[in-house]
Amino acid sequence: MRQRDRMAAPAAPAPSADSSAGPSSPLSRFTDSWFAHSWFTRPPARLWRCDPAPADVAGFHAMLPGYAPTPLVEVPALAAELGADRVFVKDESRRMGLPAFKILGAAWGVRRAIRAHGRPERLVAATDGNHGRAVARIARLLGLPARVLVPEHVPAAARAAIAAEDAEVVVVRGSYDAAVRRAAAEPGLLVQDTAWPGYEEIPGWIVEGYSTLFREVDAQLAAAGAAPAGLVAVPMGVGSLAQAAVVHYRSGGSAPTLLGVEPDTAASVLTSLIADRLTTVPDGDTVMAGLNCPTPSTLAWPVLRAGLDAAVAVPDAAALRAARDLAGHGVPAGPCGAAALAGVRAALTPTRRPSLSPAHTGTVVLLSTEGVTGPPARAERGPRPSSAG
Ligand SMILES: Cc1ncc(COP(=O)(O)O)c(C=O)c1O
Repeated sequence: MRQRDRMAAPAAPAPSADSSAGPSSPLSRFTDSWFAHSWFTRPPARLWRCDPAPADVAGFHAMLPGYAPTPLVEVPALAAELGADRVFVKDESRRMGLPAFKILGAAWGVRRAIRAHGRPERLVAATDGNHGRAVARIARLLGLPARVLVPEHVPAAARAAIAAEDAEVVVVRGSYDAAVRRAAAEPGLLVQDTAWPGYEEIPGWIVEGYSTLFREVDAQLAAAGAAPAGLVAVPMGVGSLAQAAVVHYRSGGSAPTLLGVEPDTAASVLTSLIADRLTTVPDGDTVMAGLNCPTPSTLAWPVLRAGLDAAVAVPDAAALRAARDLAGHGVPAGPCGAAALAGVRAALTPTRRPSLSPAHTGTVVLLSTEGVTGPPARAERGPRPSSAG
């Protein structure tokens, strides 16, 4: 991706600790420290500008079997709760017959790769669930074999769904990063939604593919007579979807707050932003399985560093509560999708609001990136051992 008018990313301000944590005491020092590590803002990032994604991506998707824009659902009760004029939820629970947005990136990535390098023997991918299922679906449509490597925390239901696309599923001991390393050593065309030095071409195309989601949102907001988005909440794993959000919104005329949301046990982008360098966090455990990624994409990192103006980490309980609330509003969100609502709730505190775009009280868009796909990983394995022992 070519960057135009690249501004030097401003130095990271000291992460803000909420003064609402109270006067200094052992408890407030603990909460100050927790808040400081769960929140980051960089308001000048809203002024950063780059080139847009290629214009022909949406036209390609429109020709795919089963393509239709996913619903943008207005939820007035959330607008009242969040103090915004209008709140919309982009519901990715039925994207071309799959329960997540991922096929937008996988389809465009494979098309570009085949055009550039010819038809491969087979497709290979590592996954926390949704990306691998999307790659398996594309392979089936193209009549190609697929091998999908999953870390052991991926729930059995998600593995079965990948196998049902006729893919070979290989369980890898260790984290998502371990599965990616294994996948990179397999013969075939690696279709990975994260980048590292020397592997950036296909992840770049996958990020381009996600642009269709944001174009749909723009058109749907206009059709609803709503103001352009002033706050967009994006669940983050390796940060590729958030990269696509930055490219979309920082190549247009408005400057909304882009809020990246991660599990507090796998907050690799937030940790990188606070440290101001790409950082791997220890393997964690979370019900937000698709966001359980210890290392950000090297392609996403400089774009997020420059253009993402807010990031927050949320606990599992907040995502699960948000999923229940969205279900009550008619949106079937899994914990990853519901993380967007949990993140906005965590961001819209009196002390955090002032660093957001003034337009955040206008139109809020929550990306509910997946539907309900099965029991969360931890429910299958029993509760997390208590650290209190
Ligand atoms: C449902 C869901 N939401 C969000 C994400 C985050 O996307 P990324 O890893 O590009 O940050 C993923 C990644 O797999 C996902 O499966």
